Amino acid sequence: MDFTGKVALITGGGGGIGRATALGFALRGAKVVVVDHDEAQGKATADVVAQRGGDIKFVRADVTKSASVQDYVKAALDAYGRIDCFFNNAGIEGKVVPTQDYDEDLFDQVIAVNLKGVFLGLRHVLPVMLKQGSGTVVNTASVAGLFGGPGMAPYVASKHGVLGLTKVASSDVAPLGIRVNAVCPGPVETRMMRSLEAQRNPGDPEGVHRAYSATMPTGRYTLPEEVAGVVLYLSSDLSGNVTGTHIVIDGGRSGSGGQPAARR
Ligand SMILES: NC(=O)c1ccc[n+]([C@@H]2O[C@H](COP(=O)([O-])OP(=O)(O)OC[C@H]3O[C@@H](n4cnc5c(N)ncnc54)[C@H](O)[C@@H]3O)[C@@H](O)[C@H]2O)c1
Repeated sequence: MDFTGKVALITGGGGGIGRATALGFALRGAKVVVVDHDEAQGKATADVVAQRGGDIKFVRADVTKSASVQDYVKAALDAYGRIDCFFNNAGIEGKVVPTQDYDEDLFDQVIAVNLKGVFLGLRHVLPVMLKQGSGTVVNTASVAGLFGGPGMAPYVASKHGVLGLTKVASSDVAPLGIRVNAVCPGPVETRMMRSLEAQRNPGDPEGVHRAYSATMPTGRYTLPEEVAGVVLYLSSDLSGNVTGTHIVIDGGRSGSGGQPAARR
């Protein structure tokens, strides 16, 4: 995969999956713009990529605010003149609380980042791609976009919504040469899973990690670089007629119904 001459824009670029994807794009020749509302994390990604010789800019922005989204789109255009590959990825986990007790403000916050943030990204990046007559978008959903997850009402609802947005947006822009797909990771080795493990069992988060790992036939979580590999594929010409769909990256868990691999 060669992204020489292409510009990749990544939201949530300060996080585990965003950083691995920024590096993946940069090492394959793309110019990269990373967006995050956490300045320290976003700058850390820019440093990691620049140290490996990548061409990268960090833009501080909040994906939930329309003006802020317009700012990051403008910053990308000012820096590099176009947006070829958009990884619409910022997200938060919220808290693990039963639906009947879930805090309304936190519900709104999770939906604002994970669903409205993805919509606003599409709303302001697609017109740029339409003008160019080309472009690819990958939205970050989750296996939580396909199945339930106890205690995670707004997270699961938002990720189901991301798959809905992916289907609608892809058919809106497909005739005009733009593709929109999603990735659905299961548990990935990032800060987000550390937070969820600690919430599920504050006394033994490592036990939660072991129990989750056992539900995956591969016996382990996905690495951020392995999600990045699928994002790069969906952003590249190798997936030329793939649009409006998603790829699951979960160590075989959903295919096995969450059963561990049989012993040999
Ligand atoms: N880690 C997993 O197991 C997993 C599984 C499936 C899907 N996902 C999804 O992958 C995406 C990336 O998650 P991650 O695992 O890298 O977690 P992470 O917490 O390491 O990264 C998320 C990044 O998004 C940023 N962010 C949050 N709110 C923002 C806002 N309003 N504006 C701009 N940036 C904001 C955070 O600062 C952070 O850098 C999320 O959408 C998440 O829901 C993660």
